[in-house]
Amino acid sequence: MTTIALLPGDGIGTEILEGPLEYLRRLQTGGAPIEISDPLPYGSSGWATSGSILPEESVTACQAADVILSGAVGTHPGVSPADCPTPETALIELRHIFDLRISVRTVWAPDLDEVTIVRNITGGAYANASQRTESDGTTEAVDQIRLRPDRVREVLELAADYAAAESGRRAISVDKASVLATSRLWRRLATEVSGERGVGFDYVNVDRAAYELVRDHQMPAVIATEGIFGDILSDIVCARAGSPALCGSATINPDRRFGHGATALFEPAHGSSPHRTGSGRSNPTGAWLCLAALIDWCPDLHPWSSSALIRQALETVYQSGARTYDVVSPTTRLVDMDEFNKLVLDALEHDNE
Ligand code: IPM
Ligand code: MN
Repeated sequence: MTTIALLPGDGIGTEILEGPLEYLRRLQTGGAPIEISDPLPYGSSGWATSGSILPEESVTACQAADVILSGAVGTHPGVSPADCPTPETALIELRHIFDLRISVRTVWAPDLDEVTIVRNITGGAYANASQRTESDGTTEAVDQIRLRPDRVREVLELAADYAAAESGRRAISVDKASVLATSRLWRRLATEVSGERGVGFDYVNVDRAAYELVRDHQMPAVIATEGIFGDILSDIVCARAGSPALCGSATINPDRRFGHGATALFEPAHGSSPHRTGSGRSNPTGAWLCLAALIDWCPDLHPWSSSALIRQALETVYQSGARTYDVVSPTTRLVDMDEFNKLVLDALEHDNE
């Protein structure tokens, strides 16, 4: 059985998951062992209905679940950011509560080389409040970046595994070794892992990596880097792909021990887009990509579907020329989100026949 805690969150978070949830329901009907929770309060909308951006009820449900499926966290229509200023803290808290310490992001687009970004996401620059000193405006503010070798190593090993799984992709370890001690440790460990795994990393400074990613549109790559560098680079990679909606994001606990609370959180990484909420003008590709990653992560779902099937369906839909508003061009055909989802679902049914 795979138990999913559903946290639609804010803005377009609810509607963006409609297609993937419909697919999961169809798998359920066909006999797949899936249990999906009712939508749980989370983010700005959770604050509006329950007084908390991460209510106890939602944490408890995540404790009982194998994985979390999240829509978006951020600004929500009708909730003033002045009243609920940092809803994203709910996501950061979930990562810490369940030790979801590695982020894996895949940016996918038709006719573009795929880029995977692997980074540490609970330590380093994303460490908890104990590593920070807030300023009152006159005193100094401090954010410490501390990196433990074992935590860096597991990021590099995972990235090396991704690179080895698909030949032809460039493995890049990104740091700022000319300036930061943590980066010099990172580079040293990358060299070790490279030798052990037989995957040759290129060592690239973060500024140069940003430049190369924008310059070289076709660069199939697996990037291993510190959390805050990866946060910035993943947005750059989305920009070059054409839309923030072309990214599926997972934060995982690499121990992958099922039965002890959420082992991973899956989300499209595009944010809540409050101004488009309810307009049907959204691109659900990232939601489908994160569902693909969820299915691969959960062994009990392997007999029922796979990330390859979902990728194939997306490929079919894009090849038909259908495009949502954000990626449409003069030679392609504009569809709204419902139509896009219907095409993906049709392709999935067809592939399963
Ligand atoms: C992202 C976001 C988050 C992050 C925020 C909302 C905490 O920027 O998913 O990329 O920095 O990880
Ligand atoms: Mn980000």
